[in-house]
Amino acid sequence: MKQTYKPSMDTIASLCKRRGFIFQSSDIYGGINGFWDYGPLGCELKRNIRDAWWKNVVQSRENVVGLDASIIMHPKVWEASGHVGGFSDPMVDCRSCKKRYKADALCEEQGKNLVRTATGYALPDGIKCSTCGSKDLTEPRAFDLMFKTHVGPVEDDSSVAYLRPETAQGIFAQFANVLATARQKVPFGIAQIGKAFRNEINPRNYTFRSREFEQMELEFFIKPGTDKEWHDFWVKERLAWYEQIGFPPESLRLDVHPQEKLAHYASACVDIQYEFPFGAQELEGIAARGDFDLTQHQKFSGKSMEYFDQETNERFVPHVIEPSAGVDRIALAIICNAYREEWVPKGDGNNKAPVEAEPGKQAPEGYETRTVMQFDPKIAPVKVAVFPLLKNKPELVEKARSVFSKLSPIWPCFWDQVGAIGRRYRRQDEIGTPFGVTIDFQTVEDDTVTLRDRDSMQQTRLAINDLPEKLREILA
Ligand code: GAP
Repeated sequence: MKQTYKPSMDTIASLCKRRGFIFQSSDIYGGINGFWDYGPLGCELKRNIRDAWWKNVVQSRENVVGLDASIIMHPKVWEASGHVGGFSDPMVDCRSCKKRYKADALCEEQGKNLVRTATGYALPDGIKCSTCGSKDLTEPRAFDLMFKTHVGPVEDDSSVAYLRPETAQGIFAQFANVLATARQKVPFGIAQIGKAFRNEINPRNYTFRSREFEQMELEFFIKPGTDKEWHDFWVKERLAWYEQIGFPPESLRLDVHPQEKLAHYASACVDIQYEFPFGAQELEGIAARGDFDLTQHQKFSGKSMEYFDQETNERFVPHVIEPSAGVDRIALAIICNAYREEWVPKGDGNNKAPVEAEPGKQAPEGYETRTVMQFDPKIAPVKVAVFPLLKNKPELVEKARSVFSKLSPIWPCFWDQVGAIGRRYRRQDEIGTPFGVTIDFQTVEDDTVTLRDRDSMQQTRLAINDLPEKLREILA
């Protein structure tokens, strides 16, 4: 069913906590701002996102290979990339209420632009604190986003290291080794999934802007001069992937960066945005970065990053197209996109279709409200729930156990024998399990079960032996 209203982020956060998708990190100690833990369902969801990305970007392409680089790298990597000394956000503090803001976001909120000066940034006239209204704000000051640590027992300047703020630099730093071993020719790509860390000034919108998050990045190396063609190619490919994993096309936007906002070395950048309840925001950026990164590493390491094209006898530093996506943002968008409240006939069915609930209104006579997460089955954390109709009938439980052990090696399954069957269906609806298999008295007689579809709530009867094939057909 199409979604016509957007749930609030409080509703989403409450469901995520109640059902075990996402918890505040270190919850028992009051949490820590900007850090999140994924519970049993959240980690399955993220695993499905990573797997779908890897299958699409790496496994199904002969010219993309993978990498798993370390989180802590030589500090020179970050000097070369421009992150040391350059990866900072201008921030302002309110002297009255002590609230801290990203200066550009605060100005934008008030319909103005942060002013660039010869030495940094200045606030335009009239900007006030959006919490207490005071105009007593500090000048914008650079706030370093890099998390620092020390390697080894001595904590001095020579042992400083950084938690990586992006996975991309691990790829650039290993470009020559991969090129020498992977038997690839330009154009080819190196892909990586992993954690990144940024000491964000103002983590917000639930998990959207976190201090620890996961990226899925591809660096696709190309011949100079082919940048536009390959950038267009990757924008199309990446957009198609979002639709494949269940995003309706109308929920996605392309934000094309104007020329004047591009970094000096970039020739294009397009963001793929999702319409979150808090507005359209970036899930992924696709940038044409020229040869900036490899040239910088060549300069700082003294090692050649050149590629020799045997067909044309040319030697060049490849240019790169970089699609860079965030696993956590995609997970949050999938959760927001899946959330529905519906009115359904009491007793789960009589083959009547559910209808979209009107927010804030009671269900009509004979109906009740259900929350259902309409995940695309490919991405749903749990694929099948198995229910013995009654837990105190050993013959039903035994049969159900044999069905569970047939399906669980293939898909994540959920076993539930507690409570009335209608309540058990509701629990699965709320975590978005696409299929329920119920083992009843007829099963004992003829080895058939009912298969319930989450969205239509229709039940069909089929033989246990046909179940894996049927599910495989729908889940493929
Ligand atoms: N290597 C390029 C790069 O890192 P970015 O736009 O800074 O580019 C890429 O980050 C993606 O990483 C974003 O589109 C977003 O999905 C994710 N991301 C960045 N900062 C994040 C944060 N603080 N919290 C969650 N995800 C973040």
